[in-house]
Amino acid sequence: MSARLSLHARVSLLFAALATVVLLAAGLFFEHAAKRHFLEDDRQELDGKMALLCQSLKTLHPESSMALAAQIHDIKAGHPGMVIVIRTSNWKLLSLVGNRRLGLRLLEGVELGDPSPALVPYAGHFYRVLERRVTIDRAHALSARVIMALDISDDQQFLSKFLPTLWFGIATTVLVMGVLGGLAVRSGLSPLHKLSEKVAGISAQELGTPLSLEDVPRDLKDLVGAFNRMLGRLDRSFQRLSEYASDIAHELRTPLNNLMMQIEVTLAQERDAQEYLATLQSNLEECGRLSHMTSDMLFLAKVDQRMCRPKAECIDLAAEVERLFDFYDALAADHGVRLQQSGAATAFGDGLMISRALSNLLSNAIRFTPKGMAVLLTLKDHPNEVRIEVINPGPEIPADVLPRIFDRLYHREPDTRGNSDNIGLGLAITKAIVELHGGTLCATSTKGETRFTISLPKAIPSSS
Ligand SMILES: Nc1ncnc2c1ncn2[C@@H]1O[C@H](COP(=O)(O)OP(=O)(O)OP(=O)(O)O)[C@@H](O)[C@H]1O
Ligand SMILES: [Mg+2]
Repeated sequence: MSARLSLHARVSLLFAALATVVLLAAGLFFEHAAKRHFLEDDRQELDGKMALLCQSLKTLHPESSMALAAQIHDIKAGHPGMVIVIRTSNWKLLSLVGNRRLGLRLLEGVELGDPSPALVPYAGHFYRVLERRVTIDRAHALSARVIMALDISDDQQFLSKFLPTLWFGIATTVLVMGVLGGLAVRSGLSPLHKLSEKVAGISAQELGTPLSLEDVPRDLKDLVGAFNRMLGRLDRSFQRLSEYASDIAHELRTPLNNLMMQIEVTLAQERDAQEYLATLQSNLEECGRLSHMTSDMLFLAKVDQRMCRPKAECIDLAAEVERLFDFYDALAADHGVRLQQSGAATAFGDGLMISRALSNLLSNAIRFTPKGMAVLLTLKDHPNEVRIEVINPGPEIPADVLPRIFDRLYHREPDTRGNSDNIGLGLAITKAIVELHGGTLCATSTKGETRFTISLPKAIPSSS
């Protein structure tokens, strides 16, 4: 659910929820403070008057009712609704001023707020009631029960008007803050919206143009920087892909042109069966080259799309190399080159793929080795990896060219382009195979010697 909410909705809701919690807490605090304020006021008032009255009762003679009445009159001054009831322990009603019915009812009650005043509603009014017991005459064990009720209806009325207003104010503030918060979040997120509009407008031709960092807020700069770097990578891949596509077209065009030309020339006039046969044979060779080229490209495309899974078989590399040498013997003899092997090793992987990778390296090495010299293939079995090296004397590959020889369709002999069988996919395929097996392929070329090194792990990683 939360993942489906927009960032705007999420931040706005969070803000509204926080504002609600804070304002609710503030509302509860004010309500409690207001009630407490009135309670404290009433308590002070009642405590003061009660202390005065109790003091008088202790000092006055119980029978001098005039003096007591005068005292009660003073105490009641300014509080017209106040009720004061005094009854002695021998059930004599010393005084009952104010609402008589309430006074009598209060006398029936027990524990009417001692020491804290109690709130008693009566006939539409609210009273704060305090009760004390005071010893009047210790010698005769005479005590009195004193009840004082303060009419606080005005305070309660004020509270009953103030509290709804307070809560209404809080509810309105929550609503207003929610709306304002939503607007603030929208305006705060506007750079993000602008950014997404810019990103949505980037076309394939604009991959090389990074997004400007000028108007971007500081916290989005890292994101835009990372996005720009990704754009750069995409641009380079896109360029490589379009170069690759145009190279493919170029490579396919030449043999197709050759085919068409041969067929046109042959059909231009009547020929004997021998000539037709020769043309068909030449066409077949050209078709073979085309088929070889397309299957190489298809293999690389499958590797790219992770549709190739190497088998995990145990390969006796020495035996495999021997078979390859048998195959390449004739070609090597043609070039006047010798093939030498040293060491032995066992690898785990796809036998056919590994043989294809070695075959590409061998055919290159034979091609570039000067007449009368030898190609050396060494096998080394290390505890964690198998190392295969194909070393040949011959022309040095310049350092700036070395990283590019693994690129697809890269070949360095411009004069032979289109006329040779070599299209520049051999090393790209070898590298792809080695990497499928979780290994590495690297090349060095110094002092007239070129060396290709394959390192294969003892087990194929599961990600391959
Ligand atoms: N042993 C080597 N010595 C010198 N240069 C080499 C050697 N192996 C490869 N190269 C250079 O690397 C380039 C790429 O080699 P790669 O095997 O990919 O293509 P290719 O041999 O030209 O064509 P393909 O292998 O598709 O028939 C070659 O054209 C060549 O210039
Ligand atoms: Mg090659």
